[in-house]
Amino acid sequence: MLDAASNRPALPPEIARRRTFAIISHPDAGKTTLTEKFLLFGGAIQMAGQVRAKGEARRTRSDFMQMEKDRGISVSASAMSFDYKQFRFNLVDTPGHSDFSEDTYRTLTAVDAAIMVIDGAKGVESQTRKLFEVCRLRDLPILTFCNKMDRESRDTFEIIDEIQENLAIDVTPASWPIGMGRDFIGCYDILRDRLELMDRADRNRVAASIEINGLSDPKLKEHVPPALLDKLIEDLEMARELLPPLDPKAMLEGHLTPIWFGSAINSFGVKELMDGIATYGPVPQIQSAEPRDILPEEPKVSGFVFKVQANMDPKHRDRVAFVRLASGHFERGMKLLHVRSKKTMTVTNPVMFLAADRELAEEAWAGDIIGIPNHGQLRIGDTLTEGEELRATGIPSFAPELLQTCRPGDPMKAKHLEKALMQFAEEGAAKVFKPSIGSGFIVGVVGQLQFEVLASRIELEYGLPVRFEPSQFTSARWVSGDKLAVEKFVNANKQHIAHDNDGDIVYLTRLQWDIDRVVRDYPDLKLSATKEMM
Ligand code: G4P
Repeated sequence: MLDAASNRPALPPEIARRRTFAIISHPDAGKTTLTEKFLLFGGAIQMAGQVRAKGEARRTRSDFMQMEKDRGISVSASAMSFDYKQFRFNLVDTPGHSDFSEDTYRTLTAVDAAIMVIDGAKGVESQTRKLFEVCRLRDLPILTFCNKMDRESRDTFEIIDEIQENLAIDVTPASWPIGMGRDFIGCYDILRDRLELMDRADRNRVAASIEINGLSDPKLKEHVPPALLDKLIEDLEMARELLPPLDPKAMLEGHLTPIWFGSAINSFGVKELMDGIATYGPVPQIQSAEPRDILPEEPKVSGFVFKVQANMDPKHRDRVAFVRLASGHFERGMKLLHVRSKKTMTVTNPVMFLAADRELAEEAWAGDIIGIPNHGQLRIGDTLTEGEELRATGIPSFAPELLQTCRPGDPMKAKHLEKALMQFAEEGAAKVFKPSIGSGFIVGVVGQLQFEVLASRIELEYGLPVRFEPSQFTSARWVSGDKLAVEKFVNANKQHIAHDNDGDIVYLTRLQWDIDRVVRDYPDLKLSATKEMM
């Protein structure tokens, strides 16, 4: 049967019920708390506090994780699955710290929507804005949750205005807060004409929901004090005049974001948000690929690796490749073509992530995230199919913004260092360049903290102390284009040439002026700041 709107076959029900999304926010806005409440209402945990507790247990596994804990940041990203009503939610966790933004960018290629969490008192903060821009590059639908409404927060119109102006996206209220700070009593659910009242006594309980028949319903008076009710009615009338209604199409195209108000810690507004994700959030979307795009309803399985996490347990040296399924119905034991190497692999022990636990995945559908343990065959950007040579596109690798030379503490251990660095490069934790002249490796990252994490991991996981030293270079650009032009360019610029871990040619420099010169002098050459990983 064809779906009238898209002119495509209707999605199999198992795929249509999936919602795969990430949360974007500035640190401290309440992402962890909200995640915890999602899991609580999704039945994946029994009580709030478990995510943190499990997180702690996991982190004590290594000193590297200790470092993560000390700094209070989350370096590793994973995916969590849980059911809510008849829906299957896949929440892909993004690392919050800005130094790990590249990882975050790639994570966002694996989701169909993002939940933007903002703090009602702080509004749109820097990290939120950055992540939002990445979502915009992909026209990712955004649903907004304005958190901490139990505390003194900004005026509702001011919050909405700030989002509209700062992020250039239309905002439509899905709910409207009643009172503020200590006087906050709950929200009016605009989409369903309901009054939602907050229970301050029990943080894990969902409070009363009262059906209201429009704003003139006398029941409102029973529950909302007169002053607050007057303001609510006035605000809602003004909102109706000034703000656009919820247009699902504009939302799915990323031009309009519905906003819910709530307090994650008080479990308030969270279910309404989950209902919003279920009702308005997108089903698994089409994946861009070469030579043709992949439709989720295709019966054959395909998927792509968007993240590799190595040494999750240093004792086992395992690696888990996180695969977003783009189409089909996957079953454990399936044989899939690893398109890059043209080899077939049998996926015998795929895992799914339920909160912080891994579970064997017997089956999965388009939209799901599975983890495939492997010994390094699977890299970021790789595509797996049931035989067709498709390559998922759009998984970027960014030019690093900081470059340093990495040397082994013991000069005899250069080979070991190479192995360790290559592994981190494949994991996507850093860019590693081998200069064509001279010794050592040039390591590129997006944020300074990554050097410290790398040094600590190399020592911990490979028993190899290393030094990072300032490099003479500050920028890296991938070189491509006409073969002869590339050869001529490489020969004339040997001092600046290196190869990345895939063997691709990179031009290293310290001056924008140099880059401009190359662009001028070598018209047949392309210098790029990003590289598609495949
Ligand atoms: P993050 O993952 O986005 O960094 O934020 P997280 O959930 O860790 O929340 C940051 C802080 O904000 C936490 O307080 C958390 O309890 C608090 N918080 C989250 N949601 C709400 C809310 O709705 N209202 C209020 N008032 N506070 C909220 P903390 O003191 O840093 O940690 P903790 O001691 O509570 O664990």
